[in-house]
Order: sequence, then structure tokens, then C-alpha cells
Amino acid sequence: MSKLEQLLKKISCASFPGVEDLVAVLSLEDLPEIKVLFDFADVVRQKVCGRGILLRGIVEFSNFCRNACAYCGLNKNNLALPRYRLSMSEILESVARVAASKVKTVVLQSGEDACVDILGLLEIIRSIKEQFDMSITLSLGEMNFKDYQLLKKAGADRYLLKIETSNQALYESLHPGMSFENRVACLHDLKEMGFQTGSGNIVGLKGQTLRMIAEDILFFKKEDLDMVGIGPFIPHGRTPLKDESQGSALLTLKTLALSRIVLKNVHLPATTALGSLEKDFREEALRAGANVLMPNFTPLRYKKLYEIYPGKRCIEEAGSVCVSCLTSLAERLDRTIDYSRGDTLKAG
Ligand code: 5AD
Ligand code: FES
Repeated sequence: MSKLEQLLKKISCASFPGVEDLVAVLSLEDLPEIKVLFDFADVVRQKVCGRGILLRGIVEFSNFCRNACAYCGLNKNNLALPRYRLSMSEILESVARVAASKVKTVVLQSGEDACVDILGLLEIIRSIKEQFDMSITLSLGEMNFKDYQLLKKAGADRYLLKIETSNQALYESLHPGMSFENRVACLHDLKEMGFQTGSGNIVGLKGQTLRMIAEDILFFKKEDLDMVGIGPFIPHGRTPLKDESQGSALLTLKTLALSRIVLKNVHLPATTALGSLEKDFREEALRAGANVLMPNFTPLRYKKLYEIYPGKRCIEEAGSVCVSCLTSLAERLDRTIDYSRGDTLKAG
């Protein structure tokens, strides 16, 4: 066994691996060695998830946001972006299209819309649960305990709240007016009230070191998450980070692979951001530990307005087209699309 394989084995067997070991892996530059890392992650993925690739249909129902996240094109200071909010019937029609594609999870996502109509949302959740055999993931940012509880009671199953970076100083420099502590408290609230909980980070942020990325992975481990989304930073022209360089696809893939080895029984999407670089890296992601894809079912006329970063994939394609495209991708990899709900991989 090579030294690298020994190191990966050690990391994989540890209940809480050392940060230096993770940094050593993230520092790999030699392509054959990186291939060893990806293959190791692929074996772990096969063991814990099998060959099936789960689909989550995403509906981006509002691009209003009260925040000013330094990397995000939806930030409130981007006055050039036309804002939209889908009506209740538009949301339900989109969800019906997800259901018609046999996808069993819908992800309802929005910016942190200050005017979010909680009662309307509750009605939508109840109505989805009544009409379709489908699980609901929400991705609406930070809310108070009571609202989270109402959403849960109405029937929402999962909640996605990315930490973006687990480094408090970096987090707070990128999120004016927001607090790291509150972000973590929200994650804990969500978990406590029984949501299957997801988080994730952005790789390649200005000021982010390999050590911080290693600590992100340990944060995911500590928080015992059900899903983790990992994507590269992509500079957006109407944000303060417009002149910074893009995150590296290779480092993002290394982070993903290492996350699979450390976290094991967790859902890891091949993120849309990884699919939106100079080439589509989602295939590589699926070979390096990922087990989930997220076709986008936002109505076509709104898709381009949910521009969190430029060059976003599948702006011109309907969600059903993405599902066929992703089915061919799975076939090319000798994998299958798994049309089950894809609940948490952790024992209840
Ligand atoms: N580059 C990469 N990812 C981004 N996100 C937002 N802006 C960017 C960007 N410029 C990610 C964040 C957010 C998710 C919806 O999109 O992780 O949580
Ligand atoms: Fe959307 Fe391929 S995933 S067209």
C-alpha cells in the first residue's frame, strides 16, 4: 500500500481525523495521486450509497434577498437584477413538473426574502404533501425558531443551510450584518426539530486557506449532517468579489472526495456550480464521491434571473430536459438514476 493509501485509510478509520492529515490530502498536486484520492472516495461512495444517483428537483421561487453576501449575485445591492416572486400556482405547477419527471424530492429555494409569506408557504407545503408522494427540502436561509417549526409541522422534511465557510472571521467578512453564531444556531435548531439537515461550503473564497477547508470538513463531521453541498467560488460582476479569481475545480473535487472519505454516509451532490465552470465537472464529481444531481425546474422565464453566479448551467433547458440529460450522464458512468426519495443515510 502506498503512503497516500495509508494516509487515506487512517483518515477513513478515524472517528475524528486530524486537521493536518486533511490538509496533506488537500495539498496533493500530483495527478496520479489525486486519482488515488478520487478512486478511494468512489469506493466509499459505492459502499455507502451504491450505484444509484439521486435526483432533487430545484424550484427557485424568489430571488429577493435582504442580505449582502459578498459573493452572491442576488445580494440586495445588485440593483440591476430584476426581482421576481413566483405565485402560489406557479410554484405548484413547477412542483407538478418535478413530480411528472418522477423525481421524489423538490427543493424550494429562495433568497432571504424579507417579505416571505410564511402562511402562503405553509399552504404550498401542505398542498404538495396532499397531491404528491414527494419529500420537500427547503432552502430559505435564516429564520426564527418558530417559523422553522411551522414549516416542519406543515410537512417539510429537510432544510439546506450552507455555512459557506466554517471560519468565523472569514464568514463575517463575507456576510455584512450576519453572525456566524446565528448561522450555526439555526443549523442546530433545524436539527433539533427533526429536519434532515444539509449544509456545505464554497471553495476558493478570497482569504480561504487549505486549513480552513479542512476545518469545514471537520465542521460537517461534527454537525453530523445528512447532506453537504460543495461548490467552487465563481465571481459575479455585480458583487464586491467581482475581480477575485474563480475557485479551482480540482480543489473543489479534492474537497468533495475527502468529504466522502471523512463523512461517509452523507448525501453529496455534484453541484450546479461545479457544472458551470469552463467545462461541466459534475461527471468528475460523480466519480469522486458524489451521489446526487439537482435538475433545475424553475420556470424558464425566471431561470436566468436566479443568477447567483454567472454562467449558471441549464438556463435554457426545462427541468425535464435536464433529467434526460442526467440520465445519459449516469449511463455513461455505468450508474443508474435512483428514483427513490433518498432520505438520510443515517440510522434513525
Ligand atoms: N460562487 C459560487 N457559489 C455561490 N453561491 C452563491 N454565490 C456564489 C458564487 N458567486 C452558492 C452559496 C449559496 C448557494 C445557493 O449558492 O453556497 O448557499
Ligand atoms: Fe440540464 Fe444537462 S443537466 S441540460
